[in-house]
Amino acid sequence: GRAVSVRLCAVGDIAEGEILRVDLEDGRALAVYHLEGAFYATDDLCTHGDASLAEGEIEGCNILCPFHLGSFDIRTGEPTGAPCSVALRTYAVTVEDGEVLLAS
Ligand code: FES
Repeated sequence: GRAVSVRLCAVGDIAEGEILRVDLEDGRALAVYHLEGAFYATDDLCTHGDASLAEGEIEGCNILCPFHLGSFDIRTGEPTGAPCSVALRTYAVTVEDGEVLLAS
């Protein structure tokens, strides 16, 4: 059978270079990114402190945290700028019929 996918948003909900915070029914908060024609998802909460990454800025392939301007690679979750040192959890995302889905 087909794996059940969780809908995150519509493709048109996030402009290129923008971020959307999505609160899932199970309580998880994700940041969904539209980066160079592809979509990515990570935990919304910075691993350094209590900051919502969806309120940060995209710079190249990195998300800059709004609190202390640490950064992570959006594609891998690896920390790319101090003070961030703990990787961010990333989630596999697929696009189907104009919908951005969490591949589960
Ligand atoms: Fe994100 Fe400090 S809370 S860099």
